Formats: sequence, C-alpha cells, structure tokens
Amino acid sequence: MEWKTAVTDLLGCKYPILQGAMERLADWKLAAAVANAGGHGTMTGSISRTPEKLREDILACQEATTGAPGTFGVNLSIGLCPEIEKMLAVCLDLKMPVETSVYKPDALAPMIKESGIPWIHKAARVKDAVHAEELGPDAIILVGVEGAGIKNPEQLPTMTTIIWGRRQLSVPIIAAGGIGDARGFLAALGMGAAGIMMGSAFLATKECEIADSMKEAITRLNPENADLRARVLTPRPSRRPDVNPTGDTIPRETDWSQAVSLAAGSIDRISTVKELIEGIIREAEEILNGWRFLKR
Ligand SMILES: Cc1cc2nc3c(=O)[nH]c(=O)nc-3n(C[C@H](O)[C@H](O)[C@H](O)COP(=O)(O)O)c2cc1C
Repeated sequence: MEWKTAVTDLLGCKYPILQGAMERLADWKLAAAVANAGGHGTMTGSISRTPEKLREDILACQEATTGAPGTFGVNLSIGLCPEIEKMLAVCLDLKMPVETSVYKPDALAPMIKESGIPWIHKAARVKDAVHAEELGPDAIILVGVEGAGIKNPEQLPTMTTIIWGRRQLSVPIIAAGGIGDARGFLAALGMGAAGIMMGSAFLATKECEIADSMKEAITRLNPENADLRARVLTPRPSRRPDVNPTGDTIPRETDWSQAVSLAAGSIDRISTVKELIEGIIREAEEILNGWRFLKR
C-alpha cells in the first residue's frame, strides 16, 4: 500500500508518522532513526542549546539520513528553546522544516512564512489552532489530553479534538495524544487527520536514551493505572520529571515512566524505531485488508 496523504506530500516522508519533540531526549540521533525508518523525525531545538550547536546537529542528522525514505525537521518550543529567533534563522538557512509549539507562534510566523519552508504548528486546543491557522502554517498538530508534554488545563480528548478540529480548520491536521499502535493510527486517519505524531511510544524504543529499566516500566504500565490516569487526565501546567538545568546530559535513572502518556496502553514491548514504525504500517494494512464488512 502507498501511504500518501497531505502530510507525506508536505514533508516528503514515506509514512504519515511523525515523532514528537521531547526535551532532553529527542535529539538528532532519534530523528535520524525515524527518518531512516520512513517517518518524519523531529530534533528538539532546545537540546542543542545554541544556534551554533543546532547547525552542527542538523548537519549531522542530514549526513546520517542521506537517501533515507523519511525526513526530519526541527521543533522550536516557544518559551523553552533558548535564543529561539537565532535558532529559527539557522533552520531557515539550512531549509529545515520547522515545528513551533507550546505557545502562540505570532512573533515567529512572519520570518517563517517569508522563507517558504514547510511549517507545522502544534496546539493543544482547537481555538489556539484556529488562531495559528490565520498565520499560515502548512499543517497543525493537535494534541489531545491523553498525550504527554506540555499540558493545557482545557485540553479535550484526542477523538473530540481531532473531529472538532477537522470541522474548524482547513489545513491538514496531524493527530497526537495517546496514539501508539496501528489501531490509533487508523482511528486518527478516520477522524480526519492526515498523519499522526507520537512521543511516548518512542520512549520505549532501543534508540531512545533512557535507562532500559524505565523502558521496561513503561511497557508494564497500563492506562487503568490510577496514578497515570490522574496525572494525564487532570492537566496542570506541565510536571516534568527531575529537571536537569544544564540540559547537557540525560540522567539515566530519571523516572521517565512519569512522562509517559495514555499511549502506555499501546506500548507493550521495547523495539527499534524501525520495528515500531514498520509494525504500525504492517498491522494497519492487515486491519484494512481484514475489513470484510466493506463491500468493494
Ligand atoms: C518526555 C517528553 C518530553 C516532551 N517534550 C516536548 C517539548 O519539549 N516540546 C514539545 O512541543 N512537545 C514535547 N513533548 C510532546 C510530544 O512532542 C508529543 O506532542 C506528545 O508526546 C504526543 O503524545 P503521546 O506521548 O501520547 O504520543 C514531549 C513528550 C514527552 C513524552
């Protein structure tokens, strides 16, 4: 099957599967692994710390993904990424697709639009996405309350958010929040998204630099776990595990299971990035082929 959507057309990746930015974790190496597996990887700009290092990291990622079936871009989390305008200038100079997130992108929008590079904005509420759409992004990621990362107390469930967003927005939507397998992927497309973004599911991949014991803990978590449910579904301004203020090394034993989302229900093994992405695609195709109730 060919997975051709508005998102694969925009970014040039083989599959409409994006890896989400993850502060301190989703560096260029994870983004490269995703691009090499046919998805769209996201380098988290805040990890590079300076514009000079960001340039080096982008070039390293470009070298590691030469001929890759997938693509990659840079996340600039507004309010988290240092020297954000200079970081953006580096992205534009190297013609990198940019994803803005966390807060309103109004101040960065003119610079991005003038450059003509693909621009995606990530929002947690449809009303924020409607505002952002006026600034001209090529696609919008909508993250439902099931998701991880920066939370908004007004977030709605992913299903409500995507269906409501599809009615309110004209640009392609990328669905995020609690998605980690083929069923979530197909459901998102059914709700009107042109692709998915996953963060938590990548925490349990071999390429993600967290301790193996944490990956195992994540595979054991299920969405009925009371602490997990309470933490994810009662959004307060983001609670981040054990912040490492220097940002340069990852404390291996940080309890990253405290960062995982309700996608925990779909994460039952530690796999490589390629196994995760290709497994979702393979299983999605099997499900579609098995829908015998459809008369063709
Ligand atoms: C550990 C962790 C750190 C994250 N950090 C960021 C960040 O710095 N900026 C951002 O825009 N999103 C961040 N996110 C959110 C992801 O990019 C993505 O939107 C989210 O994980 C989707 O929900 P899911 O985890 O259910 O797949 C983070 C997610 C995780 C799990």
